[in-house]
Amino acid sequence: IGTPGSSVGPASVADSFVFAFDIDGVLVRGGRAIPEAIQAMRVLNGANEYGLHIPHIFLTNGGGKTEEERCGDLSRQLLQDIKPGQFICGHTPMREMASKYRTVLVVGGEGEKCRVVAEGYGFKDVVTPGDIIKHDAATTPFRKLTPEEHANSRERDFSDVVIDAVFVFADSRDWAGDIQIMLDLAMSRGGRLGTRSETFDEGPPFYFSHNDVVWSAAHEHVRLGMGALRRMFEVTFKDLTGGRGKLHTHAFGKPQVPTFEFASRLLSQWRSTEHGLAGPPQTIYFVGDTPESDIRGTNAVNETADNDWYSILVKTGVYQDGTEPAYKPRVTVDNVLDAVNHGIQREM
Ligand code: G3P
Ligand code: MG
Repeated sequence: IGTPGSSVGPASVADSFVFAFDIDGVLVRGGRAIPEAIQAMRVLNGANEYGLHIPHIFLTNGGGKTEEERCGDLSRQLLQDIKPGQFICGHTPMREMASKYRTVLVVGGEGEKCRVVAEGYGFKDVVTPGDIIKHDAATTPFRKLTPEEHANSRERDFSDVVIDAVFVFADSRDWAGDIQIMLDLAMSRGGRLGTRSETFDEGPPFYFSHNDVVWSAAHEHVRLGMGALRRMFEVTFKDLTGGRGKLHTHAFGKPQVPTFEFASRLLSQWRSTEHGLAGPPQTIYFVGDTPESDIRGTNAVNETADNDWYSILVKTGVYQDGTEPAYKPRVTVDNVLDAVNHGIQREM
């Protein structure tokens, strides 16, 4: 324990360990804080018997808004000031692809929010499904743009446009329409809308910001997530092309190891800028509710990382108490407050 204050006291900061938190099913459900989460944040911010501040970041597969806006939401929910420097959402690592592709289709989220996110990441030419429907309303027979969507969507002649890649940034608000447009592109000649490939192997690559088939929202049972959309897209593509075609789909987010490595870099930066700590921590406690994403990824990065990634599973989200998790955590606890206390007790 130490730095920036040298003695244990109100100013002391934990320098050997940190926490990283999943959000849905751990801290928040259906837009509301899980009650123990607010107390867990207080404990991290010094309300523990050691007066210790414990550096922490947030790593969610969710998205659909800028990191700033998501941090604003989370700050209000958890009654704590959360900054973009300690926050990663599903699409955050996609910003590293901005220079690789020129014209991209961005799918998912409310209204124009994901276009704003993509342009903020530096993507030069961002198309939305709304632009395509505005150009040709017959694209989606049962999906009509609202007057607001019509006004916000961009007028464009797609006859000369090549879509270089498709990014699913957030959950689709119109699965049928979005899957239709994605299939049109997957079966197109090189990403040209309105064309059909003879071989079905020349569509653009499809990137999903995560692969969670289900997630924990307000309902008592888990709800369908982006991984389910991906499955429907892939299965339908296979049906339509008789298995002849070739799709290129990739997922970011947890449980991908590069996402955890990205989090590790953010943690080092956050520890240094916010807490004046140098070098990596010895232990990273990762608290999650989804064995297939959170626990699988934490255990996988632990295989290769220099520090100890310690997986903690909580019972407030996707994981159901009494069942056997598909990926085994180092420990299972009731909720996020117990997770934080478990980590502190192990360290002190
Ligand atoms: O859509 C979000 C969901 O799939 C998972 O979010 O915070 O549990 O990683 P989170
Ligand atoms: Mg979760």
